[in-house]
Amino acid sequence: QGVFTYDPGFMSTASTESSITYIDGDAGVLLHRGYPIDQLADNSDYLETCYLLLNGELPDDAAKAAFIEEVTRHTMVDAQIAQLLNGFQRNSHPMAVLISLTGALAALYHDGLDIDDAEHRKLAAIRLIAKMPTLAAMTYKNSIGQPAMSPLNTLSYSENFLHMMFGVPAEAPNVSPVLAKAMDVIFLLHADHEQNASTSTVRLAGSTGANPYACIASGIAALWGPAHGGANEAVLNMLNEIGDESRIEEFIAKAKDKDDPFRLMGFGHRVYKNFDPRSKVMRKICDEVLADLGVENDPLFKIARRLEKIALEDEYFIERKLYPNVDFYSGIILKAIGIPTSMFTVIFALGRTPGWIAHWNEMISSAYKIGRPRQLYKGAAKRDYPV
Ligand code: CMC
Repeated sequence: QGVFTYDPGFMSTASTESSITYIDGDAGVLLHRGYPIDQLADNSDYLETCYLLLNGELPDDAAKAAFIEEVTRHTMVDAQIAQLLNGFQRNSHPMAVLISLTGALAALYHDGLDIDDAEHRKLAAIRLIAKMPTLAAMTYKNSIGQPAMSPLNTLSYSENFLHMMFGVPAEAPNVSPVLAKAMDVIFLLHADHEQNASTSTVRLAGSTGANPYACIASGIAALWGPAHGGANEAVLNMLNEIGDESRIEEFIAKAKDKDDPFRLMGFGHRVYKNFDPRSKVMRKICDEVLADLGVENDPLFKIARRLEKIALEDEYFIERKLYPNVDFYSGIILKAIGIPTSMFTVIFALGRTPGWIAHWNEMISSAYKIGRPRQLYKGAAKRDYPV
């Protein structure tokens, strides 16, 4: 057996070179293709950021219009997807359903797919970005027993998503511009985050030459856990469990107790040991949305605000550099918009799709090796089967 570097949790192992996203966790910096995330949140929009992640440069007006047109043309999904959806129980977790529906795209788009052809890869990227909101909204509509809404291509990407989520066929679309803008920024802030667990999963699956839609399905599966994308759902469950401001201290004490596995959901990050720059933007949007909807005094949101304040001033959290992360605020905004808790991680998956596909594309378009970690074997030495 060779000698291997042992790095559980990949704390210090770079698995790849990449030119897409830069993070300095100590300084709280996040750049996409060199552009700071707060500048993108203020001046760009989600689809333009998708273009940037995929292509390396911001588009000019013509390229942006062409990209939006291409995405818009691919928003519908094959009618057989609806049949697949019908097979799920209504109360199935939307992430389980989304993994399956995305996997089903691999069945629809496999024959003739040549991943070594840049045009084929580009089409896969466009299709995934275009269809993910449709799949996500179908999943939700199915869970509440309403007919799926067809995408409406006269609406912007985020308006269309909210229309498919909350619209009904009998009524004309009616999407709040403030909520559509908030949704767009939420997608943008989730668009990429370099080699996190789900992106690394997509790369690992992709390194075998697997179908890209299947690779993205594997990324969605990895995202589901509460230590990763599932944290936004876990934040809301935790806030509900706390239930009253008077119980916050009790939960803070539980989080600090080493004999108690409970952690404050939405706090801490593997890479950021400073305020996550996305959280700063998310916090601002959170204030705007709560004010716009007039729900600042909702008990749940008051618990969140108070919890944030107490944790930011508590020695335990300060010493360990545990700041509220992006999921802490996104959960609150999504709840205010009216998105059910079980759909939160689906929203994260939707937003992260361009990041996954950009990393997959970056890998496939350069020389790469199959991802094959080694291990330190700790089991039994060779022994004979008892006869
Ligand atoms: N509440 C209480 N204590 C915590 C928390 C928390 N949320 N997070 C970390 N700690 C403590 C941990 O117990 C440890 O203490 P000690 O040094 O005394 O043993 C110390 O802080 C370092 O923790 P770690 O587990 O070594 O840190 P990690 O980098 O392995 O974990 C994390 C990062 C995000 C998994 C973790 O902070 C966590 O579980 N947070 C809650 C879940 C969450 O919000 N996840 C979303 C992450 S951001 C979005 C994403 O990436 O998808």
